[in-house]
Amino acid sequence: MPGFAGSKKTLALGVLGAALLLWGAGLAWAGGGQAQVKSLAGLLERYDSKRCQECHGEIYEQWSRSHHARSLMGLDGFSFMSKYLRKGPLAVKRPQDATLANFPCAKCHLPQLLTAGDQVAKELAEVIWRDDKAVVGRLNIGCLVCHQDKAVVHHRPEPGVLYGAKALQDHEGDVKTVRRSAFMSSPAFCGQCHGMGPNFEFTPPVQCATLYGSYLHGYVADGGSRTCLDCHMSGKDHTFPPDFSDREGTAKLYRDALPMEVQALPYTFHPRHGQYAPQVVVGVTIRNRAGHRIPDG
Ligand code: HEC
Ligand code: HEC
Ligand code: HEC
Ligand code: HEC
Ligand code: HEC
Repeated sequence: MPGFAGSKKTLALGVLGAALLLWGAGLAWAGGGQAQVKSLAGLLERYDSKRCQECHGEIYEQWSRSHHARSLMGLDGFSFMSKYLRKGPLAVKRPQDATLANFPCAKCHLPQLLTAGDQVAKELAEVIWRDDKAVVGRLNIGCLVCHQDKAVVHHRPEPGVLYGAKALQDHEGDVKTVRRSAFMSSPAFCGQCHGMGPNFEFTPPVQCATLYGSYLHGYVADGGSRTCLDCHMSGKDHTFPPDFSDREGTAKLYRDALPMEVQALPYTFHPRHGQYAPQVVVGVTIRNRAGHRIPDG
């Protein structure tokens, strides 16, 4: 992992754990010019990354090992929404009562849900309620979420267009046009979901990831000049480490990201004749080489 030899600074530990909740909220995004999806099956089909697997096999395989490919699940297949739909401000008495307002978390964990209708929210709540992991595991941040829905900001994504690093007139897949999106390689692209702080558009506000805020105000403001892609996507790798289910691999990445230097000076304090007090001066410096605070949350 390439690192930014940043100035010594105290490692700001983010408050762990996603939380703060909400309910309500007027979510008013429509899909990128396409007809609104009316069923969960329709949503799964439209966003199925298998459409791209045939020709982009290696990227598909990398992506399928990433947290983006299981964005409604925590570690070990834990479906975190099930807790939130049962208890707290997002809870419903019966899954049939759920609407999009019960899913502010979808803003970043499943943005395509917010382009669908309340009927889909209801079906999703039922699936979560009965802990149907086979379905929850297929709801994710797939190719089209990044290469279409989230790929441009100054206008809506055009229907039937993919976006990438370069334009292609005659893309071989069923979507024929690929347009260039300069935005996709900018940190703000990732920042759409990796968070600035509380999401005040919800009532009450929801807060989860805040890492992009830390990147802007703690790293770039301090002279850092690398982008998210420089550190996390070298060679266009779509695995987006760290993979927290690989505990050993993650521990190694964090040891490298947080080099620790310890200096110790042992001495004996001799206040008066015959009295000896062993003392030690310990200096610990932990350097954070990531482009933001870690851990996030
Ligand atoms: C602003 C976007 C955003 C919103 C809104 C959001 N999250 Fe997150 N969440 C993320 C991102 C990005 C990550 C992973 C990266 C990180 O933590 O830095 C994450 C991580 C998590 C994790 C840890 C996942 C794991 O693999 O263990 C859980 C659990 C979680 N979120 C639950 C929620 C819940 C529940 C809500 C709604 C109450 C919510 N999030 C709302 C962006 C968001
Ligand atoms: C989390 C967002 C995200 C997801 C999910 C994602 N991509 Fe990408 N992809 C990117 C970014 C960012 C780039 C680099 C764009 C750039 O360099 O301007 C990229 C680059 C690419 C490239 C160009 C590679 C090259 O060598 O130039 C291809 C092809 C691609 N993605 C296909 C896919 C496919 C297929 C999937 C689904 C299996 C997928 N992507 C999922 C964000 C994503
Ligand atoms: C039938 C094969 C085929 C399918 C299916 C396919 N692609 Fe491609 N795609 C290609 C080929 C071949 C290229 C490289 C063309 C080139 O570089 O001249 C490409 C290029 C791309 C690029 C541009 C890469 C860059 O450099 O920016 C993106 C983005 C992309 N594909 C995304 C997707 C996504 C997303 C899907 C699924 C919806 C998909 N493709 C399905 C064959 C396919
Ligand atoms: C559509 C929203 C979205 C976009 C865009 C997005 N991410 Fe994520 N990302 C997430 C969510 C949500 C998770 C956590 C999924 C989970 O485990 O529940 C995540 C997980 C990750 C992880 C794994 C570590 C972790 O805490 O789970 C990394 C690294 C990461 N993203 C980097 C990036 C980078 C770099 C980009 C830009 C190229 C990007 N992401 C774009 C939403 C997004
Ligand atoms: C200077 C390099 C660098 C830059 C720039 C950078 N990161 Fe990281 N990031 C790291 C390192 C190092 C880690 C520790 C884990 C690892 O090595 O993968 C990390 C960890 C993460 C994690 C896991 C956070 C957790 O809770 O432990 C996420 C998510 C993430 N980065 C996303 C991003 C996004 C999004 C951006 C851009 C806004 C970004 N990073 C910019 C180097 C960087």
